[in-house]
Amino acid sequence: MEEKSKRDGFGSKIGIIAAAAGSAIGLGNIYRFPCELGNNGGAAFLLVYLIVVVFLGIPVMLSELVIGRRGQSNAVGAFKKLAPKSAWPIVGYMGVLCGFIIFAFYSTISGWTLEYIVKSVSNSFQGKDLAAMEQDFSNFHDMGWRNVMWQAIFIFLTGFVVFKGVQNGIERYAKILMPVLLVILVILGIRSATLPGAKDGLVFLFKPDFSKITGKVLISALGQGFFSLSLGMGALITYGSYIKKDDNLTSTAFSVVLSDTLIALLAGIIIFPAAFSFGINPQAGMGLVFNTIPMIFNQMMGGYWFCIIFFVLLAIAALTSTISLLEVVVAYLSEELHIKRQWATVLACVATMLIGSFASLSLKSNTSLAFGGRTVFDWMDFISSNILLPLGGVLIVLFVGWKLGKSHFFDEVTNSGKLKSPLKRVILFIIRYLAPLAIIVIFISGLIK
Ligand code: TRP
Repeated sequence: MEEKSKRDGFGSKIGIIAAAAGSAIGLGNIYRFPCELGNNGGAAFLLVYLIVVVFLGIPVMLSELVIGRRGQSNAVGAFKKLAPKSAWPIVGYMGVLCGFIIFAFYSTISGWTLEYIVKSVSNSFQGKDLAAMEQDFSNFHDMGWRNVMWQAIFIFLTGFVVFKGVQNGIERYAKILMPVLLVILVILGIRSATLPGAKDGLVFLFKPDFSKITGKVLISALGQGFFSLSLGMGALITYGSYIKKDDNLTSTAFSVVLSDTLIALLAGIIIFPAAFSFGINPQAGMGLVFNTIPMIFNQMMGGYWFCIIFFVLLAIAALTSTISLLEVVVAYLSEELHIKRQWATVLACVATMLIGSFASLSLKSNTSLAFGGRTVFDWMDFISSNILLPLGGVLIVLFVGWKLGKSHFFDEVTNSGKLKSPLKRVILFIIRYLAPLAIIVIFISGLIK
């Protein structure tokens, strides 16, 4: 109880869900999910993804929330408190590092959303065909420093919110804006699915070709699941520590997973029918979303305004995600290293800016910032999403299943017996056996490839 007065926390139940969903819902859903799906065989990927999200996403998310609320501390501190004098805090350190890396490349694409707000306000998409749209997109990348400028602005915005602390900052922004995003996505989805030739896109998205399921597809779906749900690096350990003792962790996990998956599906329904209709290759990667979306708005009544609103909301969705990434680093720096919260924020932002600019500059067409067939941007994404997050995820479920132990787990999940939690045994079983095994198997199958 006394702990609560010392630490900042979430003010209301809806605030927690909004903040956790705000962390989960972001560029991962609207930008990364369609890219990964397009590059990994369409519906086959979707199928694996959905299985990952339900059977691994929910238990891992609940595990993180349990660690956070039980430990009442940041990603490193929680392990220190729950397993003193052990090696477990390494999981937390890994998470802080991973949060830093993700923030560094994530802010690149977040910066693009700002460029695209400006483009949509200045009506620069109007009347353009696909070739012109693609040309604009690659011209923008070749202006390396313009990317870095937007990235810096975005990092500054994130720092500004985190600076102000949990309740005033994070919660207030997330609560209002996520529902508005949902509405605009539904409108876009309807427009896209009714374009001529949209059916092929829906087939690509929903009709699985099982022969396409390879080790690479499995590991990509696993990585995407963790990335999209913000799992495996302690973001939800940190948020869990701000959740009150009488809130229901299981239902929070279910709500967040459900809303995140819904938004990803909607993004798929928006992107693929339109991409097939306009003749955009589903493997177009980075351009897939940034070229397709303005093309849809060009075909829509009031498209000018919708386009502006869309990119503003996309930027905000990205912001509620970067907030959670930065919060992991700042909570660690301020609670473990006793750096004042405000200074910790400044420090983390400057460091992210330095590393992150390499990610941005590596996307120029003639870049020298690439090796082993990947740009610096791709390396950061690959190492964090496909390696560090699943590794963190395994260690987190092993910790809750075997180190923390059954009684502590049940105590957190039922709020010391006050809640029923009919699924608690099933979920514990998954946490102990199924989740670690599945993650390890997928991980190895990805490496063998
Ligand atoms: N989940 C966010 C998205 O989909 C990105 C993100 C925010 C994240 N916090 C995270 C990913 C923590 C992994 C871990 O856009």
